[in-house]
Amino acid sequence: MRRLCCRFPLSYQPFDCPEVFSASGTCQRMEITNVMEYEAIAKEKLPKMVYDYYASGAEDEWTLQENREAFSRILFRPRILIDVSKIDMAATVLGFKISMPIMIAPTAMQKMAHPDGEYATARAASAAGTIMTLSSWATSSVEEVASTGPGIRFFQLYVYKDRNVVEQLVRRAEKAGFKAIALTVDTPRLGRREADIKNRFTLPPFLTLKNFEGLNLGKMDKTDDSGLASYVAGQIDRSLSWKDVKWLQSITSLPILVKGVLTAEDASLAIQNGAAGIIVSNHGARQLDYVPATITALEEVVKSAQGRVPVFLDGGVRRGTDVFKALALGASGVFIGRPVVFSLAAEGEVGVRKVLQMLRDEFELTMALSGCVSLKDITRNHIITSSRL
Ligand code: GLV
Repeated sequence: MRRLCCRFPLSYQPFDCPEVFSASGTCQRMEITNVMEYEAIAKEKLPKMVYDYYASGAEDEWTLQENREAFSRILFRPRILIDVSKIDMAATVLGFKISMPIMIAPTAMQKMAHPDGEYATARAASAAGTIMTLSSWATSSVEEVASTGPGIRFFQLYVYKDRNVVEQLVRRAEKAGFKAIALTVDTPRLGRREADIKNRFTLPPFLTLKNFEGLNLGKMDKTDDSGLASYVAGQIDRSLSWKDVKWLQSITSLPILVKGVLTAEDASLAIQNGAAGIIVSNHGARQLDYVPATITALEEVVKSAQGRVPVFLDGGVRRGTDVFKALALGASGVFIGRPVVFSLAAEGEVGVRKVLQMLRDEFELTMALSGCVSLKDITRNHIITSSRL
């Protein structure tokens, strides 16, 4: 059995020590060599209720597993004898130049993972020259995150029944310098996450959903169910439809990314209804189980978009090779979620920085070994999907 280490005083441990005892009980420095290794450390460090909330998917967790497995069924067709002594990973997203096509997805309640929560994530994203998306359900407000310093940030929006709340929030995000709204469209009700039901998940009482604090919506009651599922049932607008995408455009000039598209039909509708971009997402496999992996759904969405708007992907991205595969299938960039919260739990800002650095390094290496020196060199011909195997 592994347990928390060791060389630091106990008071210093919960968030700063990435070390573990081995099975024999000796203290070992844990050399992290890929982003997935943070999950085991987070599991050790976090209260079960918190770890389970971040880790779990809906129902049988088929899609959760498939989000990873589908990547592993895609193989490379690398090209050789191309000068790869200089690799340019720079990307442009909605007109913003970023250092690599790897961005941070919205994940809720990050102060459950680490006391610095969203502050740490925002700083790590800025240091890496990439975009952070802040969750509506963050434990730091849009203003607080903006106060961490410069950075390109998007705001993920849940539409509440009370549209005044939404309007206020969108205006605050605009004022705080957020550059786009990622509108989550796959959550009229919360997916059934059985671990949260068993644990009676709720936001710890010392934290609030900071964006809603002054609106009497910042707390989550403990219920006989998942506290979050009950909160969603009470507050989130189940009647949300395409006309509301138009409504959102009437209250903000920020570009709107529709997050949660999995089909060609909905990609067309998103564009018709004024979306500036599409995020192919199954909400980290936390909503409807048995939907395809996002990497499987990506190509039909890209084909339907026909280059009219950029298409992004989140879900299961854990390797630089995954980033390359998504770009080869037509994505303009990817977002990562769980690796951020797990590294945050393990090592705070340092952990998130390392995650971004490891993915950057792996992606650069993948480009080099595939014979690509810039993002535009990455093509469909660089990969083989299972239907062609
Ligand atoms: C947050 O967005 C969640 O789905 O738990």
